[in-house]
Amino acid sequence: MGRRQDLEKRQALLAQFGRLIAAEKRLDNLLSIIAGEVRKILSADRCTVYLLDNYKGELWTKVASGGEDQILRLPLGRGVAGFVAKTGSAVNLRDGYRDSRFSYELDELTGYKTKSVLAIPLKGAEGRVLGVFEVLNKTKGAFTEEDEGLLRILATMAASFIENATLYDELRRSHLETIYRMALVAEFRDQKDTARHLRRMSRFAEILARGSGLGRDRAEDIRYAAPLHDVGKVAIPDSILLKPGALTPQEYEEMKKHTIYGSQMLANAESRLLRLAASIAVAHHERYDGTGYPYGLKGEKIPIEARIVSVADVFDALVSKRVYKGAWDIDEAMKYLSSQADKLFDPRVVDVLESRKNELVEALEEENRLLAQGEAFEARIHETEAQFLKHHLKT
Ligand SMILES: [Fe+2]
Ligand SMILES: [Fe+2]
Repeated sequence: MGRRQDLEKRQALLAQFGRLIAAEKRLDNLLSIIAGEVRKILSADRCTVYLLDNYKGELWTKVASGGEDQILRLPLGRGVAGFVAKTGSAVNLRDGYRDSRFSYELDELTGYKTKSVLAIPLKGAEGRVLGVFEVLNKTKGAFTEEDEGLLRILATMAASFIENATLYDELRRSHLETIYRMALVAEFRDQKDTARHLRRMSRFAEILARGSGLGRDRAEDIRYAAPLHDVGKVAIPDSILLKPGALTPQEYEEMKKHTIYGSQMLANAESRLLRLAASIAVAHHERYDGTGYPYGLKGEKIPIEARIVSVADVFDALVSKRVYKGAWDIDEAMKYLSSQADKLFDPRVVDVLESRKNELVEALEEENRLLAQGEAFEARIHETEAQFLKHHLKT
């Protein structure tokens, strides 16, 4: 290819790069778009974008291994990327394995064999290091000085978008943390395994929402609003909430009011998530046939988010061990729920429950596994939230 054609091709790729990254606001999508484009533009086999976690002094990146996304963390100073982040200077190696700065962790995790490496710092508006752009294994030969210049341009273009997406992510996470904490407060008195129940039922709710065709963002909102379904319980007196025996009819009437209290606590919120939570709180005990409470709403009159959450909530209660009962197995629980389709539950949501069984089981197993490792709070809501939980909930 002639010099001029080559230049034109690169300019076109740069313009496309700019358009693509400007259109994406979510950090995880943004990072994978950047990695894909940079790889193409530099004719490299791989591109990894590491972000700096200032709190822990580590670099992290999402890597696909064995079909699953994993978060790889690298202490500052370790590996080529760690060196670049620490010193702020670029590294260009013809053969990574021959350099003492190279760390084998990523290759070990992914089964990849690195040869040539080019890594440059990703700097934010004030020259602060935000992370590292690393490209691996150039298709032909080693990375040139021209490649390095090009990678610097790409990093400069991407920096402000990454910075914004990171801020947005942080804001969202602190919002979620508050919601989670509120939910924990509400269930703290009467359930010892509260955190586990909330995590699991909210994951189930998201799966059911996706399966009901609600779209990714809405399903995610439902997941984050769902833990607040019983927030109104804080207003129920101990004598009723903690009563060991059966409730009297009057006590039961008072207990039912947790739905109303919840919606009052969340009413007229400015936040979209909290408005959704209000709608779930008030209607999660309504029944499809109209025999539920507090208003006896029927069928489609019950908001879809509440129809979904009531299935997720009961499903989790059934498959969990409680003081008064052992854990049911998944099939038993599903059988019970389908026997109550049209009565307690929206039959379409129950259908989704059955068709998404594998996903539900996976989510359940993942949560249980994390719990067994003593990491209940670190369970992944999504990859960035895992960090958030580590930072904020455990300490
Ligand atoms: Fe409830
Ligand atoms: Fe619940």
